[in-house]
Amino acid sequence: MPLNKQYWEDRYKNNSTGWDLGIISTPIKEYVNQLENKNSKILIPGAGNAHEATYLVKNGFKNIFILDIALSPLKFAKQRSKLPEEHLIQQDFFDHKGSYDLIIEQTFFCALEPRFRESYVKKIHMLLRDQGCLIGVLFNFENNLSSPPFGGSINEYLNLFEPYFEIVTMEPCNNSVIERQGKEIFIKLKKKK
Ligand SMILES: C[S@@+](CC[C@H](N)C(=O)[O-])C[C@H]1O[C@@H](n2cnc3c(N)ncnc32)[C@H](O)[C@@H]1O
Repeated sequence: MPLNKQYWEDRYKNNSTGWDLGIISTPIKEYVNQLENKNSKILIPGAGNAHEATYLVKNGFKNIFILDIALSPLKFAKQRSKLPEEHLIQQDFFDHKGSYDLIIEQTFFCALEPRFRESYVKKIHMLLRDQGCLIGVLFNFENNLSSPPFGGSINEYLNLFEPYFEIVTMEPCNNSVIERQGKEIFIKLKKKK
């Protein structure tokens, strides 16, 4: 089954959203809590119900954009996060144009078919300003499923990202939510010129 817009809309309509933590993921919460610049332009691609955005807005971040191919989660996120309409983008990530200081990754990379990983890396690189960073979590388990979430390993992620990013952090998470303990890698990757 192609992982297209219809696939994701159906997952939301059928409440088949096992990935949704219902709150911001702890590793991302602890990272954003220590950020001082609340004016950074931030993108959350594949944001889904966008609990990260709701948290960021509540905590004074002023320039958050969320993007998803599916409309249903964006409607939910709009009510919850109180983001202005123009900060909610319904679009295929690979068609998006923009320029951001920070991009937040939370179960979007793992939702893409692995053949799109290199395109994801190049697209994130393109969407970041100089010195911009991709932060967030990637899954840390063998990539043997035929449907999402697709996993991977630090070695695989290093090979993918290193040509385009300085690896500031890429290590197993010590602050995952209980059900994801031992299964997540925290990343902070700075755009190379
Ligand atoms: C596994 S869900 C994660 C949602 C959210 N980040 C979370 O953790 O709750 C993956 C999300 O990516 C979206 N998505 C999948 N392919 C996409 C694409 N090509 N462009 C934009 N969004 C996409 C889906 O609609 C879905 O909301």
